[in-house]
Amino acid sequence: MRPKLFTLDNGHRDTVTDKTLPKPARQFARRTPPPAAAEDRADATVTGPFAGKAHPGSLLSAGPLPLREIGRILARADRLEPEGAAKRARRLAHRRIALLFYEASTRTRTSFELAAKSLGAETTLVSALSSSIEKGESLQDTGLTLRAMGVEVIVLRHPQSGAAEVLARAIGLPVLNAGDGTHEHPSQALLDLRTILQWKFGGKTPTLTPRTLRGMTVTICGDILHSRVARSNALLLPRLGARLLLCGPPTLLPEVAAQLLPAPTTGQIEVHHDFEACLRQSQVVMMLRIQKERLNNLQLDLHEYMAGYQLNAARLRNFAPQSAVMHPGPMVRGLEITSEVADGPQSVIEKQVANGVAIRMALLVRALKAGKP
Ligand code: MLT
Repeated sequence: MRPKLFTLDNGHRDTVTDKTLPKPARQFARRTPPPAAAEDRADATVTGPFAGKAHPGSLLSAGPLPLREIGRILARADRLEPEGAAKRARRLAHRRIALLFYEASTRTRTSFELAAKSLGAETTLVSALSSSIEKGESLQDTGLTLRAMGVEVIVLRHPQSGAAEVLARAIGLPVLNAGDGTHEHPSQALLDLRTILQWKFGGKTPTLTPRTLRGMTVTICGDILHSRVARSNALLLPRLGARLLLCGPPTLLPEVAAQLLPAPTTGQIEVHHDFEACLRQSQVVMMLRIQKERLNNLQLDLHEYMAGYQLNAARLRNFAPQSAVMHPGPMVRGLEITSEVADGPQSVIEKQVANGVAIRMALLVRALKAGKP
């Protein structure tokens, strides 16, 4: 049967009726669009009493983080993770942390919250649908309001690329970027790195150098165009010597992605469209979902997509039987990855989730210690 062409245009025309698609893929294509993006733009003028440079405890992008600093974050995660609950809960006792979420999140929000709470901090969740954001309050005003209430760190997720930087420059507090539009998701890249290092080296985190991941090929496959996870990983892994293959159909993978790294590194980024050829060369394969909420009239044939880019058991067995399988979540089972693979022996997806808590503990401690003796 000739596959139908689906229009995934931000949900304005949910025309998916094709019963031949697996159920999760049908549900995926029918999902309703998110609320309209907030007004704050990445190039917004930052003014006000605290306007200036971002606080040094901020984490806005994976790109500028020196390897030595990344090593310190990983080492801190290694120390905090096994620590006894009572000792850990004294580390940030009664410090105030706000989780400011303008977009849906399960893993990132919960892991930041659990991390903060296990360090003894007080957390407050501000989400777009239950706050003055809904009434049109700007990001900067919301940030200043939280600051006036004694909040010391803001964890921000926002649909606009660059929003974390705008907020950080406006409020003078540490801002942790929990995903800004299609720009970056740096804490995800750090937890992905921890997962890759554990898989390659076992329990002990090695010293990070431009050669730590030399000889390793990592494939990231899927909707690279809209993926902040892919971008943050691309700004990180090649600096440790990894060869990064970005893979997907041309509509979801611009050729310029190969130029993501601003300066030459020991590793490299390549753009490919043949998934099986990538799998054959990779020790790690990271699958991404198609970001329906950001597709903007882009047309995609889901049958064709799955035929070319789904990671299923046969493909994994035939082309990458030893590789680690990763996914930042949320997974659309039956579309980019099958359950057999997601729950199979090569999957380190649950380890990624667990590493999210450890890395975010380290980032919160770093945020509150930065600039202090
Ligand atoms: C993200 O927030 O970018 C996620 O972790 C990946 C996704 O939404 O597909």
